[in-house]
Amino acid sequence: MSKLNDKKFWSGRFSKGSAELLDRFNSSLSFDKRLYKEDISCSIAYAKTLAHCKIISNLESEEIIRGLNKIFEEIQSDKEKWFEENRNEDIHSAVENRLINIIGDVGKKLHTGRSRNDQVSCDIRYWLKEELNQTRSLLEDLKSRLITLAREHFNTIMPGYTHLQQAQPITLGHYFLSYEQKLSRDIQRFTENLSRVDVLTLGSGALAGSSYPIDRDYLAKALGFSKVSENSLDAVSDRDFIAECLFNISLLSIHLSQWAEEMILWNTEEFQFISISDAYATGSSMMPQKKNPDIPELIRGKTGRFIGNLTAILTLLKGIPLAYNKDLQEDKELIFNSIDNIKIVLEITNEFLQNINFNKDKMYKVSENSFMSATDIADYLTKKDVPFRIAHEVAGKIVAYCIERNRTFKDLSMSEWNTFHKLFGDDIIDKIKIEFCVESKNVYGGTAPQQVLNAIDRATT
Ligand code: ARG
Repeated sequence: MSKLNDKKFWSGRFSKGSAELLDRFNSSLSFDKRLYKEDISCSIAYAKTLAHCKIISNLESEEIIRGLNKIFEEIQSDKEKWFEENRNEDIHSAVENRLINIIGDVGKKLHTGRSRNDQVSCDIRYWLKEELNQTRSLLEDLKSRLITLAREHFNTIMPGYTHLQQAQPITLGHYFLSYEQKLSRDIQRFTENLSRVDVLTLGSGALAGSSYPIDRDYLAKALGFSKVSENSLDAVSDRDFIAECLFNISLLSIHLSQWAEEMILWNTEEFQFISISDAYATGSSMMPQKKNPDIPELIRGKTGRFIGNLTAILTLLKGIPLAYNKDLQEDKELIFNSIDNIKIVLEITNEFLQNINFNKDKMYKVSENSFMSATDIADYLTKKDVPFRIAHEVAGKIVAYCIERNRTFKDLSMSEWNTFHKLFGDDIIDKIKIEFCVESKNVYGGTAPQQVLNAIDRATT
């Protein structure tokens, strides 16, 4: 909007206009314009507080609020046009300049006792509170999805891995609940983070506090903040809550990248544990046979930017002296980028999980034709009082014997079993059945189907 006044509010002590390159370098409007709603809401609450505290008159406050509401409508009706030729330094100056433009000198009273330093901190906290709530609810949805899948597959048998080597059979339900646990901790972290975001910093002035009798509790209430910041120097310089959030997003994404890696692997011709619905896979422009798992690949790949953004904020904060420094302006693109991306990652993870088919037969066959019951052979002897270390060695010898002859445990005759240990009885055949191996892990937190059902109960009550 070219008719917008773009006066710099700090121009008083300057005798020259600023260099064009400085303006371009300094400006944050291109990215902080998305905070227009928050900026206006915080300003409305501030104008109310100024009147409540008799710093400006009720009439002036009403006039300011009317102007701010008008600006909100203007931006809402055509965002692109409003910002098109806007030369303001940031969203705060853009709104304030326009306010003065609309209501005249009364608009110049809005910034009484306020600095952009406490204003920007307040805006970003106000914005992040809402975003964190949305992120948390997407995470809750994903957690429910995992629980639904765990219920569906509480007794689906599959190979469990360590070092990506077949280790012991597990239930697919148990697998899903392991990610449910990781996500539950992620949710806790976001909740904790939210409690530190939910603090009113407005009223801290530029750094020293305000010399006007601003009722900060009143202001906090008007904006729905639960607490009021304790120290003005800290309030305007603190970006811990952003670093924390970027860490939480990174760790969440690391969890999802681990799961995504498994989906990519399970989707291969070699594994064939899952198949992806056509609507959720992509093809190759050259190789006609290809069906690619782009979704989990991108979920895995996004982790790079999240960790990058975390690294950027930590590096940015290091060594910044008190209180506000312009370096802090760089926080916004990082947090915007991470929040926007994690939200879509969470949504698509959920949808992807609803659009893959788990190939139970293949998982079962692979489990059955494996040596994954070797530990159970050792356990069998141990339960007959053979010391575990000896039992382990015996089981290892049986594995080597089978490998050499290209056989599995099931193919061994009773006399062969007894050449390895006389305590093997007929019941060994049942005890090394894959179903038994899984059912026997019936300890709290174990993979037995009954334990999976118990864990689902705990997760849903
Ligand atoms: N655009 C600035 C930021 O995002 C607003 C605060 C500017 N404060 C200042 N003293 N120049 O950090």
